[in-house]
Amino acid sequence: MSQSQRILSGMRPTGHLHLGHLHGVLNNWVQLQHEHNCFFFVADWHALTTHYDSTEVIENSVWDMVIDWLAAGINPGESTLFIQSHIPEHAELHLLLSMMTPLSWLERVPSYKDQQLKLKEKDLATYGFLGYPLLQSADILAYRADCVPVGEDQVAHIELTREVARRFNHLYGRETGFEAKAEAAAKKMGKKNAKLYKTLRKRFQERGDSVALATAHALLEAQQNISLGDKERLFGYLEGVGKVLLPEPQPLLTPAARMPGLDGQKMSKSYNNTISLRESSEQISKKLRTMPTDPARIRRTDAGEPQKCPVWQMHQVYSNDAVKAWVQQGCHSASIGCLDCKQPIIDAVLKELQPIQQRAKAYQQDKEAVQSIIALGCEKARDTARETLEDVRAAMGLIYH
Ligand code: TRP
Ligand code: SF4
Repeated sequence: MSQSQRILSGMRPTGHLHLGHLHGVLNNWVQLQHEHNCFFFVADWHALTTHYDSTEVIENSVWDMVIDWLAAGINPGESTLFIQSHIPEHAELHLLLSMMTPLSWLERVPSYKDQQLKLKEKDLATYGFLGYPLLQSADILAYRADCVPVGEDQVAHIELTREVARRFNHLYGRETGFEAKAEAAAKKMGKKNAKLYKTLRKRFQERGDSVALATAHALLEAQQNISLGDKERLFGYLEGVGKVLLPEPQPLLTPAARMPGLDGQKMSKSYNNTISLRESSEQISKKLRTMPTDPARIRRTDAGEPQKCPVWQMHQVYSNDAVKAWVQQGCHSASIGCLDCKQPIIDAVLKELQPIQQRAKAYQQDKEAVQSIIALGCEKARDTARETLEDVRAAMGLIYH
């Protein structure tokens, strides 16, 4: 991936962020922002799909979440941070896409039925909840994002986004005189490149040669002197479709650095097994000291088995080989107690959170700074989304002169 790749991801503001978010999402975002053009946003409309009857949760989480992002190292000089509901283009694109999205595509997204079953206490038989993944598609396509960093559970939503983009391009990507325009665009790359493009296109269309397709993509990516519109035409012409108005995004699977919760299950608010980023040192130490261990190790003199212990899973995240060997040896021989075993983790978590909490405190005391970061981010995001929507409206015939 290159610097010009656009990355977009969002998070729902539905409570305090915890170590699971830090290890599963935020550290990854921090890395990505150094290498790519990143957009990160607060998905407050998505939170509404499940919290429409308890909106105070959202209201209370939005600024804290942004502060946690900044505290974790998201740099507003590198990344664009914004709030979904401040960019009405997301809603407009969602509406426009809803016109051409078959109902069955939404009904068969696995999270639709799964979440309804999981959150039984809520009535999720709503219009908005069914549309959740399509709103997500609009989020992504409004920025023509190349890659979307997500967890495993979101891959089906990216797949839907790709299908929706394909359908959109198929329905609306045909401009009058498309072929002639594409041929003219090819010439703008220079004689040699135009010829190469033609050959590669032919090889792909006649023989389905995927190497030729990839080579042609690379050729187009490398062009500095042709407009975005021409580039899209050439991408579209290559594969025989019309102009690629909305490019298909790729999921960027977050490396599964699974942060275990205090009980060994995945750390998650719904399991009540979290350590939040803003918890006090006392509270964190207490939680870790009292977390369960190998249930067979009843007395200090009983040997234990790290494989059966959630503390061991935390050592996988926080400890080096020497400490891990010390745990294995000490646990199997009962030469260390469980509190001894937990101490390096307590130390590591506190050390990890110390600078984060310090930065969070500074931002909390300077709410204006946080608000202006978001205001700037919204402006930048909106410029990008506006451009896409202009193209979308034109393609759908919604510009009346
Ligand atoms: N659905 C995502 C989640 O629950 C949040 C989200 C909303 C998102 N819009 C997005 C993620 C766009 C990536 C891209 O985690
Ligand atoms: Fe778990 Fe460590 Fe106790 Fe062994 S010594 S049971 S690994 S906490």
